[in-house]
Amino acid sequence: MQKEPQDVMEKIVSLCKRRGFVFPSSEIYGGLSASYDYGPLGVEMKQNVKRAWWKEMVTAREDVVGLDSAIIQHPKVWEASGHVEGFHDPMVDCKQCRRRFRADQLEGDRCPDCGGELTEPRQFNLMFKTHFGPVEDSASIVYLRPETAQGIFVNFLNVLNSSRLKPPFGVAQIGKSFRNEIVARNFVFRMREFEQMEMEYFIRPGEDDKWYEYWVKERFEWYVKYGVRRGNLRLRPHEPEELAHYSTGCTDVEYLFPFGWSELEGIAKRGDFDLKRHSEYSGARLSIFEEETRESYIPHVVEPAAGVDRALITFLIDAYDEEEVPGSKGKTETRTVLHLHPEIAPVTAAVFPLVRRDGMPEKARGIAADLREAGVSSFYDEKGAIGRRYRRQDEVGTPWCITVDGKTMEDGTVTIRDRDTMQQERIPADRVVEEVKARIKAWRRT
Ligand code: GAP
Repeated sequence: MQKEPQDVMEKIVSLCKRRGFVFPSSEIYGGLSASYDYGPLGVEMKQNVKRAWWKEMVTAREDVVGLDSAIIQHPKVWEASGHVEGFHDPMVDCKQCRRRFRADQLEGDRCPDCGGELTEPRQFNLMFKTHFGPVEDSASIVYLRPETAQGIFVNFLNVLNSSRLKPPFGVAQIGKSFRNEIVARNFVFRMREFEQMEMEYFIRPGEDDKWYEYWVKERFEWYVKYGVRRGNLRLRPHEPEELAHYSTGCTDVEYLFPFGWSELEGIAKRGDFDLKRHSEYSGARLSIFEEETRESYIPHVVEPAAGVDRALITFLIDAYDEEEVPGSKGKTETRTVLHLHPEIAPVTAAVFPLVRRDGMPEKARGIAADLREAGVSSFYDEKGAIGRRYRRQDEVGTPWCITVDGKTMEDGTVTIRDRDTMQQERIPADRVVEEVKARIKAWRRT
């Protein structure tokens, strides 16, 4: 069905609240702007997004290891990285309505809201500051990390010496980052507290382009693998003037959001910028000695940097659909469905007894427990008409619903209903786990 883009965004925000994916933060106190909390289904989905990334980037590879570094690090880290000096956006205020904007995102030189005159741009550093320890003086100022990447660079020697890896190798990290964005908007797309999934891939100098192209391709395909339609994704190489202070080349994976093409992830060539700067600022030798050539060098870096929240909202938007389906009494009705990949969906299988008697609830509960035991997330529901229970699961993207009915009690079979095709099949109850696992493997976005 044709839908207006902004309409879709509103519907998704409302679905997220109603069904427990994402809530406005501190809501009972009137909310904190651009801050969100993940609810019971949202947190499951978010874990799945992170698991899918970790599986692909760390577990399935022999050349990448993981790290979990502190959010608050030595303040010198951010001097060396260039963030204290250069991580800012130009900010302007409207002299009339007092609204604040990012100067580089405005098209004209007058307020886009009221047409008022704007102030001269002022540079605004995006790092959150706080004090470390009980004394609030300038010597105790520390920052909440604005990217997870620096935790990887400052641990370069620790990882190298403990894991005995040689370039090319990568170090991956998932965790919270903080940016005091001048304008945060578009739901979880741009927040001040968000989560990143980053990997620093250390290579021999001169191999930059080869690995850059490799990672751009890999990362694009990851979104497709987990269900995003290829036609809604594109690659956009940065113009030279857009590049961050550390980078000599960057390509964004962009998604066609309801508010237009926007960045999902950036793949950047960081060269030796970070390791060189940390060597200079710390005095540590962040280089590699190669036995064969008897030479030492500072490795170069290619970095795929993704946002957990942006990936999650992309999976939701791309999966969202409203379909006309046959309803009761020969009428058609609209079903809302999320065509999520089974490994991204918050619940994999829902199990229902047709009615709340004749041993059906006990049987259904047993199947739900077997699924859980086998590591497949399941949800038991016995309330309301069966058609409504299917619709509730469609709306949160549960790929399969298993129903225990009168026939189950006679011949030991249950129905398994597919979310995407709405087709039902009868299978033996003791084969449900096997069947669901096989279907997870075979699932393709149609
Ligand atoms: N280490 C490189 C780096 O941090 P970035 O492009 O600034 O690069 C990487 O950030 C990813 O982090 C972005 O592509 C986006 O997915 C996510 N991200 C950045 N700022 C964000 C924000 N304010 N809210 C949500 N996600 C954000």
